[in-house]
Amino acid sequence: MTDPNTNSSDDKMSKTVSLAKRRGFVFPGSEIYGGQAGVYDYGPHGVELLNNLKKAFWKANVYDKENYFGLDSGMFKHPRVWEASGHTAGFSDPIVECRDTQTRLRVDKELEAVGVTADEKMSVDELQVLFDEHKDEIAQRNNLSGNFTPVRAFNLLVQSNLGDFTGAGTDPVYLPGEACQGIYLNYKNIVDSMSPRLPFGVVQIGKAFRNEISPRNWLFRTREFEQADTQLFIKPNENKEAYEQLKQERLDWYVSLGIKPENLRFKQHENVAFYASDAWDIEYNFPSMGWDELEGVHDRTDYDLKQHMEFSGTDLTYLDPETNERYIPWILETSVGLGRMFAAVLADAYHEEDLGEGNSRTVLKLHPDLAPYRVAVSPLLKNKPQLVEKAREVFTLLKAEFGNVAWDDNGNVGKRYRRQDEIGTPHCVTIDFDTLGEEDPAHKDTVTVRDRDTGEQQRVAVAELVEFLK
Ligand code: GAP
Repeated sequence: MTDPNTNSSDDKMSKTVSLAKRRGFVFPGSEIYGGQAGVYDYGPHGVELLNNLKKAFWKANVYDKENYFGLDSGMFKHPRVWEASGHTAGFSDPIVECRDTQTRLRVDKELEAVGVTADEKMSVDELQVLFDEHKDEIAQRNNLSGNFTPVRAFNLLVQSNLGDFTGAGTDPVYLPGEACQGIYLNYKNIVDSMSPRLPFGVVQIGKAFRNEISPRNWLFRTREFEQADTQLFIKPNENKEAYEQLKQERLDWYVSLGIKPENLRFKQHENVAFYASDAWDIEYNFPSMGWDELEGVHDRTDYDLKQHMEFSGTDLTYLDPETNERYIPWILETSVGLGRMFAAVLADAYHEEDLGEGNSRTVLKLHPDLAPYRVAVSPLLKNKPQLVEKAREVFTLLKAEFGNVAWDDNGNVGKRYRRQDEIGTPHCVTIDFDTLGEEDPAHKDTVTVRDRDTGEQQRVAVAELVEFLK
């Protein structure tokens, strides 16, 4: 099947994953030891793209807004936090294990695969009944015998032994199951220190850890990931309009990053998580996987602050300066995994182009603000000192302006262009004999600038280069 967006085929995701490894974007975690399931490492180009995504997120949600504040909270939290949040009791996946092969299956996902939607609020016993009805079909799908353990709830929180120096066992300390809890814990500190009026937002990019039973689909479902969150604190019952606005704003933001609008859509949850009264996903049409959740936009009402107020005994009400009333603000949340965002951006940017006469190229058409390098600089030949010297001058000039500039003198110019295309560098600048004024004095101090997307080349004066690239 051909993907109409890219003219490449169904295996676009595996090609994207392989390019990501080959070109230093993403490596499997602990690879030399045979790997650590559900963990990935971002390489030299990957970390640039990741940081650019974070910068773009921060700009749109903190700098371009009024009354939105940034936060970076500690990962370890008081053990009661996860009780109050509902995670120790309710943050679990229903699983069964095949007794013969020890293969673990997520019951809700398996039921979904055979066309049965399990309500998130179903008890283990109710799921058992459904599972038993479809057991043979599920066993067959997974090439298993059907000799399964009973369904049980598997908690996803990752436990640590922090502070348990004697090994005698203290209250368990957890790694964050969701990054946003740090925002709720600091709500009072932010109100006290910043005196914001409602509605106000708090934005954080933080790590989350989940003991996912079957990490899968590359960066899509991992055990360690980062979440970029905004929590909008609003007046009670003023959620409807603000929620619609927030949803649209978040979808538009992905389009502004260059993601094709036809690969994005909203989907409302039929079953909401324990903390939400309404939940919509922004879905992305991932190659080979199809439509799946990129970001969650949740109407959390007063659930979180109410819970933390009850469990901590601290007053988390807000004194409305206009009405002198005290109430618990409601929360609208947007939360996206950086890994999923990264995978969507990369897959969307991946293009294979037929150049005719048996030639083709692979190019990442990344938004210039996201590309690992803003521009690459090359001397036409690396064994000509005058070319190298001039190229170094241009490189220094551009580096001072843009920061992330590549120096590329490996192989011939054609190979450099192919390499930079695969990294997604928007422009390549080549210093040649014309630049030195050796061929045509009129071209002295001009360079060749090649455009990644069109392949077109034009001569630009060095003095005008920064403006041109901007
Ligand atoms: N604070 C709300 C919350 O955590 P969620 O829907 O469980 O809600 C929000 O997670 C986002 O985090 C998801 O939309 C997804 O982008 C990302 N995410 C969740 N689990 C993930 C996993 N195992 N691997 C990678 N990203 C994940």
